[in-house]
Amino acid sequence: MKIAVLGGDGFCGWPSALHLAADGHEVTIIDNLSRRAIGEKISAPSLTPISSISERIEAAKKVGNVNFIYCDIAQDPGRFKEALAAIKADVIVHFAEQRAAPYSMLGDLERRYTIDNNVTGTNNLMSLLVDLGQRPHIVHLGTMGVYGYNDDFGEIPEGYLDVTVKSTGKDVSITYPGNPGSIYHLTKVLDHQMMQFYAKNWGFQITDLHQGIVWGTETEITKTDPALMNRFDYDGEYGTVLNRMISQAQVGFPLTVYGTGGQSRAFIHIQDTARCIALAATNPPEMGERPQVFNQVSEVHTVRDLAQMIAEKTGVEIGFLDNPRKELAENKLMVSNEGLRSLGFEPIRLDEGLVLEIEETVGRFTDRLDKDVILSKARW
Ligand SMILES: NC(=O)c1ccc[n+]([C@@H]2O[C@H](COP(=O)([O-])OP(=O)(O)OC[C@H]3O[C@@H](n4cnc5c(N)ncnc54)[C@H](O)[C@@H]3O)[C@@H](O)[C@H]2O)c1
Repeated sequence: MKIAVLGGDGFCGWPSALHLAADGHEVTIIDNLSRRAIGEKISAPSLTPISSISERIEAAKKVGNVNFIYCDIAQDPGRFKEALAAIKADVIVHFAEQRAAPYSMLGDLERRYTIDNNVTGTNNLMSLLVDLGQRPHIVHLGTMGVYGYNDDFGEIPEGYLDVTVKSTGKDVSITYPGNPGSIYHLTKVLDHQMMQFYAKNWGFQITDLHQGIVWGTETEITKTDPALMNRFDYDGEYGTVLNRMISQAQVGFPLTVYGTGGQSRAFIHIQDTARCIALAATNPPEMGERPQVFNQVSEVHTVRDLAQMIAEKTGVEIGFLDNPRKELAENKLMVSNEGLRSLGFEPIRLDEGLVLEIEETVGRFTDRLDKDVILSKARW
């Protein structure tokens, strides 16, 4: 199939694009390289020295058919339309968003940038496809954070909630009430609502993947060539919790835990991200159906348990800090991942070997690690 990967230069997009190419698909990455630019701006580039996009694409050609188009999908709809018209994709995987909750809460500029970039990018994609008369299967990356973290509705289903309406006694299935905890998460709630509308009005096949926090760095393919190396973020704004803690331990920096660390979160390894994207891409919903939602998660842990595991392994102490965010201090989280499992997904679980692999990667590049960017500057 012809697959366009929007945001294919990023942490999840790059290994996923390679995986799809290795499966024999014709892959075109569209990216404006904004993640690299933000890394420079906040003095926190990838810890791993990633190759330039041209070196990446040259190396990727040994894996499969991979091409690249530079385009800002939010700011340059003209160029984006030309790209979509030329590619005529069967599937479009949409990773191209500003994806850090803390970054989205830094200040006015970051709040507006995140809304403008994410919501306009998704609307441009759908709106341009309407005008082009194209109806590829859209695979959008959402986040588990759209559901919020109270447990009022029990186990989190996949996108929809079965309820009985008090006034009529009718049983209906509604979109799960969005309960975002940051501007970034809000954009994913808005994206989802927008895709519901486009599907209803113009008949799209859409899969929204509500993904957990991604950990790890390399996949079987990115490991094969230094030019294919994946990015690794450890800073307070973009570093995802487990990767950041492993980096902190490597340089003897107390592991940052907000409040009691009783926040339960869903996790997935980067290798599984790539596998799930391939599964989702090849299993669209029926045309005319409402968007299908899969919870792209493997397992649930509390932040405290992760910190304790790393502290015991490394001897680094845990630094409990006052929580700078508005979130429940402790929460339970039960989440269904039935959709992807029914397609054959067998999750990789948190395991010593994989943690060791990350430690080794970080260990190779500690000279590039800047302790001054470890703590998040965002407060909300
Ligand atoms: N990393 C995680 O833990 C995680 C968890 C859940 C969901 N997600 C979602 O997965 C997707 C990818 O996340 P990631 O960690 O790879 O993020 P990332 O920032 O590493 O990658 C995003 C990519 O999109 C590009 N991009 C952003 N805006 C663009 C625009 N307007 N036009 C063109 N390209 C643009 C960036 O340059 C970057 O290469 C995001 O939508 C994110 O919300 C990520």
